[in-house]
Amino acid sequence: MKVDGRHFRSIWVEGDGWTVAAIDQRRLPHEFVIAKLTTCEEAAEAIRSMLVRGAPLIGATAAYGMALAMRDEASNAALERAYGKLIAARPTAINLKWACDEMRKVLAPLPPSARAAAAYARADDIAEEDVAINQAIGSHGLKLIEAIAPRKKPGEAINILTHCNAGWLATVDWGTATAPIYLAHDQGLKIHVWVDETRPRNQGASLTAWELSHHGVAHTVIADNTGGHLMQHGMVDLVITGTDRVTANGDVCNKIGTYLKALAAHDNGVPFYVALPSPTIDFSIDDGRKIPIEQRSADEVATMTGRTRDGRIETVRIVPDGSNVANYAFDVTPARLVSGLITERGVLAAEGSALARAFA
Ligand code: MRU
Repeated sequence: MKVDGRHFRSIWVEGDGWTVAAIDQRRLPHEFVIAKLTTCEEAAEAIRSMLVRGAPLIGATAAYGMALAMRDEASNAALERAYGKLIAARPTAINLKWACDEMRKVLAPLPPSARAAAAYARADDIAEEDVAINQAIGSHGLKLIEAIAPRKKPGEAINILTHCNAGWLATVDWGTATAPIYLAHDQGLKIHVWVDETRPRNQGASLTAWELSHHGVAHTVIADNTGGHLMQHGMVDLVITGTDRVTANGDVCNKIGTYLKALAAHDNGVPFYVALPSPTIDFSIDDGRKIPIEQRSADEVATMTGRTRDGRIETVRIVPDGSNVANYAFDVTPARLVSGLITERGVLAAEGSALARAFA
């Protein structure tokens, strides 16, 4: 997608053929900084520190992390070390394990001398596949948005609510939840997006709003607890979120607060869709309650970071010293609350049989 009119992806390989570059998402929306990753350890740290984030992008970064490792040392031991280091970087998004498994599957049978080149080739493929998958998600999701258009009065916008950032920054390009939105906007449909701020890290306020601004999509940032009120007043036509892991039975794990939006949508008859690429499906788990939920630093809840009026980036504490703080990063929305799963193979029922049929 475009930043100030110039096309960017969230991650790419530099002209030297091996350095990995990624947009530093910790600095947005105030500063646009490109980070350079030159070792497997730096790739793992980029995932841990959320320099890169979002399930598909975490997967692509891990794939390039394996490639960087193989460039350094391509022994069996080095392969296993890189796998272990990357997979431990964050626990919830299954795309991380999927990408590391894909890389190991390709690399393990090869002689060490062939591993670095093969690793870059497979990582490039994973990145390209992600872009193609998201475009397909976009065209399937577009039909859901188009179906709402005839109900609108002339000039009235279709209101879509989204949570966290499942935009192009969370993937290699296009995004999952945002792909249908970008396509609908590009086709001339009048779209307005309600953007949940998504405390504590504010991926909605900082990243989704930034993306939508650069693409010219009308949007309004709202405090996380606003969605229910908007739905009660008929101000949301459709909810589309992303996900970090969907279980074999269709339960959806996503950024903390997603479940409450799904409950509000259910209570108000608002369709609640989840957009995902197939590497986000974990067929080894059949109950969302078994998904490991990441708990992050208390500081993310106890502080807020932003730009002061005179342009400085500052972090301030908002919780009394001494208060306990908990920071659960994800929650699980049961399949029964999900209207459908927008995948690269079409919009599926959030049911085990539909997922198994589509991705056997
Ligand atoms: O903690 P984050 O920012 O990595 O969480 C990201 C999300 O929860 C996204 O909604 C999800 O990964 C889908 S990204 C296409």
